[in-house]
Amino acid sequence: MALMESLSNAFTTLPTAIAALLLLLIVTFVVRKQSDKKKYYPIAGTVFNLLFNFKRAHDYMADLARKNKTYRVLGLFHSEIFTSDPAIVEHILKSNFPNYGKGGYFHTIMEDMMGDGIINVDGELWKTQRTYSKAISEATASNNAVDMQELLLKGTLDSMFEVGFVVQLDSIYGEKEGLGFAHSFNEVSALILLRYIDVFWKIKRFFNVGHEAKLKKHIKVVDDFIYKLIRAKAERASNPNQDASCKKKEDLLSRFLDLSDTNPKYLKDICSNFLHAGRDTNAATLSWFMYRMCIHPDLQEKVAQDIKDAVQLKDAPISEFLDKVTDNRVLDKMQYLHAAISESLRVHPPVPVNAKYCFSDDTLPDGYSVKKGDLIAYQPYAMGRMKFIWGEDAEEYRPERWIEEDGRCRMESPFKFPAFQAGPRICAGKEFAFTQMKVFTAVMLYFFVFKLEDQTKPVNYKTMINLHIDGPLMLSASPRVRRSY
Ligand code: HEM
Repeated sequence: MALMESLSNAFTTLPTAIAALLLLLIVTFVVRKQSDKKKYYPIAGTVFNLLFNFKRAHDYMADLARKNKTYRVLGLFHSEIFTSDPAIVEHILKSNFPNYGKGGYFHTIMEDMMGDGIINVDGELWKTQRTYSKAISEATASNNAVDMQELLLKGTLDSMFEVGFVVQLDSIYGEKEGLGFAHSFNEVSALILLRYIDVFWKIKRFFNVGHEAKLKKHIKVVDDFIYKLIRAKAERASNPNQDASCKKKEDLLSRFLDLSDTNPKYLKDICSNFLHAGRDTNAATLSWFMYRMCIHPDLQEKVAQDIKDAVQLKDAPISEFLDKVTDNRVLDKMQYLHAAISESLRVHPPVPVNAKYCFSDDTLPDGYSVKKGDLIAYQPYAMGRMKFIWGEDAEEYRPERWIEEDGRCRMESPFKFPAFQAGPRICAGKEFAFTQMKVFTAVMLYFFVFKLEDQTKPVNYKTMINLHIDGPLMLSASPRVRRSY
C-alpha cells in the first residue's frame, strides 16, 4: 500500500521532471542507436513502460518475453536487458560469472539495508562470507481462520533465528520487541524497492523526508535489534561454559564472532543479509503453496496422502509424529510434496526477477551485445510461464511435471528453473529452505484440511522485491485426523 501511495505521489508531483526525463531518454536512445546499430535490438520500451505497468510488472514482463526471449528496456543511463533464455541465464550466472555482479549500482541502492553482507557484495568479501555460510547447509530443521501469510512470515523468522544464531525469537506469540522487529523488517523490504524507481531518493535521504524518512526509522529498529543480538551472543561466547552452542561455534553468527577483525557493523550486515535472504523467500513460497493447495483441493489430498505414506503412523502421540517429520530420511520419502513445492516455486518464484550489473562489454550467446554499465536480469516469473521452456501447459500448476518414472522429483536445470539462482552464487540456503518448507507443510497438511475463507476473492501479488501475496491470505482449517491429544 505504502509503495503504491508513494508511487502515485511521485507521478502527481513530478510531471515536469518526467517530461524532462523522457526527452533525455529519447536522446540517449538516438545516441546509442548510432553507436551500436548492429546488435542493439530488440527494444521493448523504456523504463516508463515498466513504471506505467508497475502493478502487474511481472506479467507485463512475461508478455514481453512471449514476443522476445531477451529484450531491452531503455533507461536513462544504461539499458536494462531482461532474459528468459536459459542459455543466457547460464552465461551470466556461470560461464561468464566474473563479468556480472552487484557492482556499485546495486550496492548503493541496497546499502542501508544490506551493507556489506553476502547478498550485496562481490569479490573477496563475497567469497569469505560464502565459505562461512556453510553453517546454513549444515543446519537441520529445528523445529479457525488465520492470516496464513502473516503466520508464515513470523514462523520462518523464528526458525531463521534458531538456525543462524541459536536464539529463540518467539515472535509468533512474542514479546513487543520481537513483533516490532518483524514489522520493521517487512517495511524495510517494501520501502527499499522505491529506490529503483524514484530517481530523487538520494535527495530525499539527505533531507530525511518521504519514504526515505520512514525507511530510516525502520532500518534503525532492525539494526538495533540485531546489534543487541550480537552483543548478547558475544557475551555468551566470551563465557563458553554458559552456552554449549557458542562453544561448538555451530551457528553462522558464532563462526563470524570467532574472526578477530570482525567489526560490529560487518557482523550486523552478515546477520541482516542472512535474515533477508531466507525469511521472505521461504514465507512467500509457503504462502503461495498453501494458496495453491486451497484452489486445487484434489492436489491437497494427494500431498496429504504422500505425507501419510511417508510417516507411516497410526494413532501415535504427536511427539512421535514430530520426530518422524523432522527426520531427513522420512522427509526424503515425501517426493510428491517436494514436487508440489517445486511447482509452486516455478509459477510463484519468491525472487521474480533478479538483475546483475555488467562490468565490461560482452556478447550474449544469442549474438546481442551488452555494454559495460548495463543491467541484465533473468526472470524466474516470466520463465515459469514460457511455453518454449515448459510446454503448452506452462501456465498450469501441475506437480506431476516434476515426477520421474520412479516416483521421485526431478532435479531440473537451474538455468531453466532459476528460482534459487544458479552457478557459484546459487542460493546458499536451498537445502535448508526445502527442509524447512517440507516440515512446515507436512505438519499443517497432515493434521488439517485448508480452504480459502473467501473463494471469490482474487489473489494477486504485490510488486516488491519478493513476490508476496497482496493483502492477507485468509484460510480456514478443519481437522484432518482426530486424535485424543
Ligand atoms: C524458497 C526459499 C528461497 C529461495 C527461492 C531463495 C532464492 C535465492 C536467490 C534467488 C538468491 C540470489 C540473490 C541475489 O544474488 O540477488 C539467493 C541467495 C542466497 N540465499 Fe536464498 N532463497 C531461499 C531461501 C534461503 C534460506 C532459507 C536461506 C538461509 C537459511 C538462504 C540464504 C541465501 C544466501 C546466504 C544467499 C546469498 C548467496 C550468495 O550470494 O552467494 N536462502 N537465494
